[in-house]
Amino acid sequence: MRFSALIVVQNDVRFVPGLRQIGACCLKNGFQNDSIMKHNASHKIAKKPSRAFGPQTLAIHAGEPNKHGVGASVGADISRTSTFTFSSSEEMKLWAEGKSTAYIYTRYGNPTLSVAEGKIAALEGAEAAVVTASGMAAISTALLGALKQGDEVISTAQTYGGTYRLMRDEFPDWGIVVRRAETSLEGIESLVTGKTKVLYVETPTNPTLRLVDLRKAIAFARKHNLVSIIDNTFATPLLQKPIELGFDMVVHSATKYLAGHSDVIAGVAAGSKKWMARVRHMIIDLGGSMDPEAAFLLTRGLKTLGLRVERHCANARAVAQFLEKHPKVARVHYPGLKSHPDHALAKRQMKDFGSMLAFDLKGGLPAARRFCDKVKLFLLAASLGGPESLVVLPIYSSHYNMSSAELATVGVTPGTVRVSVGLEDADDLIADLKQALG
Ligand SMILES: Cc1ncc(COP(=O)(O)O)c(C=O)c1O
Repeated sequence: MRFSALIVVQNDVRFVPGLRQIGACCLKNGFQNDSIMKHNASHKIAKKPSRAFGPQTLAIHAGEPNKHGVGASVGADISRTSTFTFSSSEEMKLWAEGKSTAYIYTRYGNPTLSVAEGKIAALEGAEAAVVTASGMAAISTALLGALKQGDEVISTAQTYGGTYRLMRDEFPDWGIVVRRAETSLEGIESLVTGKTKVLYVETPTNPTLRLVDLRKAIAFARKHNLVSIIDNTFATPLLQKPIELGFDMVVHSATKYLAGHSDVIAGVAAGSKKWMARVRHMIIDLGGSMDPEAAFLLTRGLKTLGLRVERHCANARAVAQFLEKHPKVARVHYPGLKSHPDHALAKRQMKDFGSMLAFDLKGGLPAARRFCDKVKLFLLAASLGGPESLVVLPIYSSHYNMSSAELATVGVTPGTVRVSVGLEDADDLIADLKQALG
């Protein structure tokens, strides 16, 4: 094969339904020998389907190179390299002049990263995606890509603690002002100034599962010409697709449901080609790029996202219903329960309610600590979205280093326990909760 046949287009995650390359991402000329491909697969070239592929099909096939030839590996290849060759100085010159989009260096892009990017872009219904070293790398890079010194951002007060601390502890030093809104968006108009550039929301929120009305948020952002960014980690693109509603960028901690196995730190941003070019530029400059090994794990995890999310949601429903009836539990925060203040909104804008929940114990912090020390099947650990069910005290994990006033604003009490409901048998989970609460 001619060397130049390996030149690929980075970050082009067009999903081309009906073409042989499902979610044809990034491979202009492919990894496989084109003549073999044509010989072996020409009789199979699919006609344009009359319907779009479903999310599970996308999770499995989008972003993959064409695999309909002889000898193509079905599993994802790991392009375990820091750098890439050029066939000639002329090819290099073309790249430097922006006339070629060849892979050059893994911080700029890598075929293994492109596969994961293609899948997530297709799942989110976005033009493009950029994978990053962590969820915080995606969040900080997306925000910094849209903000500069002197700008203002309106953020929901309830966000993942790391995001909150980024905005509270770092942004002021960089001359970026943060104004915080309730998840209800009540009074948000009064936060707009001539310098407001970005609306940042997280829904459902970590850890008390409050929801932001996505349509209201978009209408507000459009009215004021703001860049809209949403953390879609808790919902995943299977339960809500903010880009289709008009958000400019979606960010994820891909560490969680997208990778799904508690074995990798990863992040991703998705959105228009224009915004993703900006995010990639920031990743190149700031260095928060993903490692190919992590991209492989992310791709492998994504392939079972649909099945996992289905089971996660079913288990969480059973756990939430059990906890709500327990005499030692004061309150359960789960949008799937009728008692949740955002239940109606969750039914309107989410396909299911996810598998994160929190509950407040009547005995406050001592009871919450006792519970966490007694669980046997649930693990006492931060993070979420993996197969293992986890419990954690937000005041000692995601929401450490926050004042009582800050905790009150986000609805976290010292006795709040956050639960990531995993994939075990629901009966076993409930039995463990029973003994730990008992
Ligand atoms: C909702 C949410 N967003 C972002 C992050 C940060 O992701 P990461 O730990 O992958 O940097 C987390 C981490 O828990 C999270 O829960």
